Amino acid sequence: MHKTTLCLGLLAPLAQAAALDKRSSLDECLLAAAVPVNARNSTSWAQDALPFNDRLHYVPVAIAVPTMLEHIQAAVSCAAQVGIKATPKGGGHSYASSGLGGEDGHLVIELDRMHNVALDTTTNIATIQAGARLGHVATELFKQGRRAISHGTCPGVGISGHALHGGFGMSSHKYGLAVDWMVGATVVLANATVVHTSATEHPDLFWALRGAGSNFGVAASYEFDTFEAPAEVTYFSMPFRWNLTTGFANLAKVEAYARDLMPADLNMRLFSSGFSSQLEGLFYGDIAGLQAALAPLLNTTTPPLKIMQAVNTTWMEAFTHYANAPTDPTHPYAQQETFYSKSLELKDLSGDVGKSFINYWFNSTSKNTRSWWFQLDIHGGKHSAVTNGDHALSSYAHRDKLFLVQLYDRTYFGAYPKDGFPFLDKWVDATTAPLAKEDWGMYINYADSNLDRATAQRVYYGANLSRLQSLKAQYDPKEIFYYPTSIAPAAE
Ligand SMILES: Cc1cc2nc3c(=O)[nH]c(=O)nc-3n(C[C@H](O)[C@H](O)[C@H](O)COP(=O)(O)OP(=O)(O)OC[C@H]3O[C@@H](n4cnc5c(N)ncnc54)[C@H](O)[C@@H]3O)c2cc1C
Ligand SMILES: *[C@@H]1O[C@H](CO)[C@@H](O)[C@H](O)[C@H]1NC(C)=O
Ligand SMILES: *[C@@H]1O[C@H](CO)[C@@H](O)[C@H](O)[C@H]1NC(C)=O
Ligand SMILES: *[C@@H]1O[C@H](CO)[C@@H](O)[C@H](O)[C@H]1NC(C)=O
Ligand SMILES: *[C@@H]1O[C@H](CO)[C@@H](O)[C@H](O)[C@H]1NC(C)=O
Ligand SMILES: *[C@@H]1O[C@H](CO)[C@@H](O)[C@H](O)[C@H]1NC(C)=O
Ligand SMILES: *[C@@H]1O[C@H](CO)[C@@H](O)[C@H](O)[C@H]1NC(C)=O
Ligand SMILES: *[C@@H]1O[C@H](CO)[C@@H](O)[C@H](O)[C@H]1NC(C)=O
Repeated sequence: MHKTTLCLGLLAPLAQAAALDKRSSLDECLLAAAVPVNARNSTSWAQDALPFNDRLHYVPVAIAVPTMLEHIQAAVSCAAQVGIKATPKGGGHSYASSGLGGEDGHLVIELDRMHNVALDTTTNIATIQAGARLGHVATELFKQGRRAISHGTCPGVGISGHALHGGFGMSSHKYGLAVDWMVGATVVLANATVVHTSATEHPDLFWALRGAGSNFGVAASYEFDTFEAPAEVTYFSMPFRWNLTTGFANLAKVEAYARDLMPADLNMRLFSSGFSSQLEGLFYGDIAGLQAALAPLLNTTTPPLKIMQAVNTTWMEAFTHYANAPTDPTHPYAQQETFYSKSLELKDLSGDVGKSFINYWFNSTSKNTRSWWFQLDIHGGKHSAVTNGDHALSSYAHRDKLFLVQLYDRTYFGAYPKDGFPFLDKWVDATTAPLAKEDWGMYINYADSNLDRATAQRVYYGANLSRLQSLKAQYDPKEIFYYPTSIAPAAE
């Protein structure tokens, strides 16, 4: 683990002096502007510098801890003046520790002290500060008016990183991505000016923010539209039995169902690990409704699927069921795992793509020695709100993909082994080998820390990349909001 000081030993004497110089200039600037900061070596510094991914520790130059918009503005302004990169941190859950800058030496703007959620019960619009975590958002929206937005399952994830880059969860088949509920945002730009963006104010910036937000500014707060939390939902699971012989045909049955038959009210994913596989999800309705919704799928696989568990319950209980953690976290926050992860956004798993995916799994010997899992979300399909959302409204580039796959390889004790990486890298390479480059992508919210910058931009933003690069040149030409896989400004 790195120490929480600059790694001065690695720098030549002149660079060392320059770095110290910048650091003291930044300190002076933040002090003069009365921006709250964490003292180096303080408990708060240690808490805020703690990455979710314990494999990737980075040392900031300074950590600003704003409690109001003006503090964010001053922090961005100081970073620009001194020539240091500024990085907003929301929930700190980036798999690549992008909220710490993805490298040493950034000014981290830690937002989690700003986590207010206020629902206007007349308009049903919620104003949410950028440092709120999903569990706090869900808890408050329900408490204040039995409302909700669509989002992922982990309560500690920040609304900012999540909604600015997509946001998929157990409500997405019916209610779309978290980004789809965002109707406005107050943003500090690279030149420290504040703008309010929406479909009618700076619409280009709003489009870019909704899908690639980390590249364009520091969002301070958002307005989200909300939906009425359903009175009754049913969570369920069913074991999915497959092997090298039956795997492909069984997956094809799930795919056919997902593509055309799966109703909007059903949200479902395939979860698999070295130990077991199951289809699991959340249905908007009661148990009888769930049984009817799944009926066209059950007998199509070999052996047939059987619903193992089906529990009808309330909206917040279902959130708790999939949360696996305290449901209303704010600050401080200390959850950590040591892991490597990759993702795939795929139009289908038929033909050679699915065969390669399954062959690799069942043939790989690493699968017996590593602690891994994958999650195959039914992301698109005929009745999916993600697919049926307006593809031009946000810069999220993968609405045409049927599956969102997350591959995750974790180490429980000690450091992540160097030879761990190829296990997942080769799985992804084998799966995508039969595909043209423009026919698949990756999801930046499951950030792959090992991608080079050019590849990252292509797989995350696909068809939207060139427009995003032009907007980057317009809004952040000097790359104040740089991180190793950030969008490069278009050349003039
Ligand atoms: C346990 C766990 C479960 C997850 N489950 C899901 C899931 O179910 N569905 C899903 O879609 N994703 C899921 N994710 C992924 C998650 O959505 C992303 O990691 C997300 O980017 C985290 O946001 P954050 O604010 O917590 O992260 P951070 O690390 O703080 O930020 C992520 C990126 O956003 C930028 N950013 C943060 N705040 C701002 C801001 N205010 N303005 C501009 N840019 C900002 C950061 O600079 C960084 O580049 C999960 C992650 C974890 C660790
Ligand atoms: C701060 O921490 C560093 C390394 O962790 C240590 O060397 C240094 O003595 C500490 N400084 C103070 C003032 O505690
Ligand atoms: C694969 O599963 C099928 C159906 O359950 C079973 O008949 C077959 O024996 C299994 N094959 C192997 C190699 O385990
Ligand atoms: C599935 O098979 C079972 C057992 O043969 C049968 O009872 C049931 O009616 C079948 N369901 C459907 C939807 O075909
Ligand atoms: C679950 O279903 C039963 C039977 O229909 C019903 O009485 C109960 O209220 C339901 N529970 C919830 C939380 O909706
Ligand atoms: C996996 O093993 C099976 C059975 O031995 C074989 O048919 C298949 O070609 C192998 N696939 C790969 C990708 O090695
Ligand atoms: C962004 O990408 C999506 C998906 O490929 C596409 O439908 C949309 O037209 C693109 N938008 C722009 C402005 O290029
Ligand atoms: C700040 O940047 C925005 C976006 O590029 C621009 O419209 C605005 O004029 C700039 N403001 C100042 C004061 O330079």
